[in-house]
Amino acid sequence: MKKATLTLDRSYRVGKIDRRIYGSFIEHIGRAVYGGIYDPGHPLADDQGFRKDVIALTKELMVPIVRYPGGNFVSGYNWEDGIGPKELRPKRTELAWFAIENNQVGVDEFCEWARRANTEVMMAVNLGTRGADAARNLVEYCNFPSGTYWSDLRIQNGYRDPHNVKLWNLGNEMDGPWQIGHKTAEEYGRAACETAKVMRWVDPSIELVACGSSNSGMPTCYDWEATVLDHTYDFVDYISMHQYYGNRDNDTPNFLANTVDMDHFIKNIESVCDYVKAKKRSKKTMYISFDEWNVWYHADEANAKAEKWQEGPSFNEDIYNFEDALLAGGMLITLIRNADRVKVACQAQLVNVIAPVMTENGGRIWKQTIYYPYLHASVYGRGTALEMLVDCPKYDTKDYTDVPVLDAVAVENEDGEHVTVFVMNKSPEAVETECDLRDYPGCRLEEMLEMTCPDLKAVNTADCERVAPHPSSAARIEDGRLSVKLEGYSWNVIRVRR
Ligand code: AHR
Repeated sequence: MKKATLTLDRSYRVGKIDRRIYGSFIEHIGRAVYGGIYDPGHPLADDQGFRKDVIALTKELMVPIVRYPGGNFVSGYNWEDGIGPKELRPKRTELAWFAIENNQVGVDEFCEWARRANTEVMMAVNLGTRGADAARNLVEYCNFPSGTYWSDLRIQNGYRDPHNVKLWNLGNEMDGPWQIGHKTAEEYGRAACETAKVMRWVDPSIELVACGSSNSGMPTCYDWEATVLDHTYDFVDYISMHQYYGNRDNDTPNFLANTVDMDHFIKNIESVCDYVKAKKRSKKTMYISFDEWNVWYHADEANAKAEKWQEGPSFNEDIYNFEDALLAGGMLITLIRNADRVKVACQAQLVNVIAPVMTENGGRIWKQTIYYPYLHASVYGRGTALEMLVDCPKYDTKDYTDVPVLDAVAVENEDGEHVTVFVMNKSPEAVETECDLRDYPGCRLEEMLEMTCPDLKAVNTADCERVAPHPSSAARIEDGRLSVKLEGYSWNVIRVRR
C-alpha cells in the first residue's frame, strides 16, 4: 500500500482565514434566480416569493457572502430596471446569455433574500455598457442613509435601512472578447480607477475588486493584471481571479491534478501584484478575490442546443459526479492554503447553474456531489490555516509532472478547541498516512468524515443520493500520532479535539 507522512506544526501558520473564501454566486442566468432562489408559485415560497428550502440549504452551507448579479450578465444590466413596482419593470433582451430578463428580482429583492439567508452581498457594477455614473448611483441607492434622490427612492420602494453592501466588483471579466463592452487593459484600468473613485466618494467604507483575467489561459493573462493594477493599485483592495476546470478528455488523474494549476495561478497573480507594489514603492498589499471557481463542462452540449430568448431557461445545469466533488474539495484546500492572500472566493454558482444545489421549478430540491466538500470547508474550515508538509508518492499526467497524490491542509479552528485536517486522495489506491500531532498534546480524535464512491461518474439526483459523506473509523490517534488509511479517490475531513 502507498504510504505518506503529513507534518503538522503550529508554527507553519499561513494566516487567518477570511470566512468570505466560502462565498457563492448568484447571477441572472438560467434558473439561478428564476426557479432557483425565487419561485413565487412554489409551495415553500415565502411572502416575497423566495424558496424557503433554498434559503435553508444556503444557511446549512453557512454561505458568508454571495456575489450578484453577474457574471457576464452585469455587463449589459441597467440596475434601475429591477427596482420599484414589479408590474412596471421592463422585460429586456439579455445579451450575455440570449435570454429574456423580466426584472422581477432586482437589487432590493436580492439584498432582502441575502438577509433572510444570513449572508452578505457582493455587488458587481456594469462597466460594459455603463460606467462611473450608474455605479455611483447604485452605491447611493444601496448605502446612503437618506435625503438624496437615490436613497429616498430606496426608502420609497420599501427599504428604510440602507442595504450596506460593503464589497463591490468593478465589472466582470472585462478582458474577455465575449464580454459586452470588452476593453483593453488600458481602457479598463482607466474606467475602473475613475469608477472606484466616485463609488468611494459616495461611501468611503466600501471595498473594491478590480477585474483580473478571466482564466489562466487568456493570452493577456498577467500583462492584464500588471496594466490594470498600474491604474488602480491605490483605488482598489482586491484583484479578481476566475478559473473553471473540466474533464473533457475523460482523464481523471489529469483532471484531479488541476489543483496544481490553480495553486500556480494564485502564486503568479501574487507575483504580479507584488511587482506593481514594488514599482509603485507602495506599502499596501493587494489581496485576491477568487470570485468564480468550480468544475464546469457537463452542460456544454445541452447549452449548444438551448433555445434563445427564454425567461429562466435551463442553462448551464451541470450535473456533478463524484470526481467533480474530489476536485472541488482540492480547490477548496488550495484556497485555504493560500488564505494569506485570497480573502474572498465564490464557488460559482449557488443554485441550478453550475451549482451545489439543484431544484425543480415548483418541486423538489437536492444536493449535488460538490455540495459536501463545500459544506465541510465552510463549516469546519474557519480559523487559522496551517501549511502541512506532505511527503507522499507523486505522479505525472498529460499536463503536469510530480503531482502529489495527496492535497492537504489543516485549520486551527476559531473555537480554540479543534484542529481540522482536510485531505484529498487523488490516487486510485489507498494511502496509509501518518501525522505527528505532538504540537497538540493530549489531543483526541473527534470524528472523521469520508467521501468515497466505487464509481467516479456517480451523480446525485432528486430521487437518489449516491454520493454523500459518511463517518469513518479509519483514523486513530496513539501517543500523539494520527494514523489513517485514506481510501483511493477520497475526500476526508479529520477533526481533532485539542
Ligand atoms: O459563472 C458563469 C460565467 O462564467 C460568468 O457569467 C462569467 O463571469 C464566467 O465566464
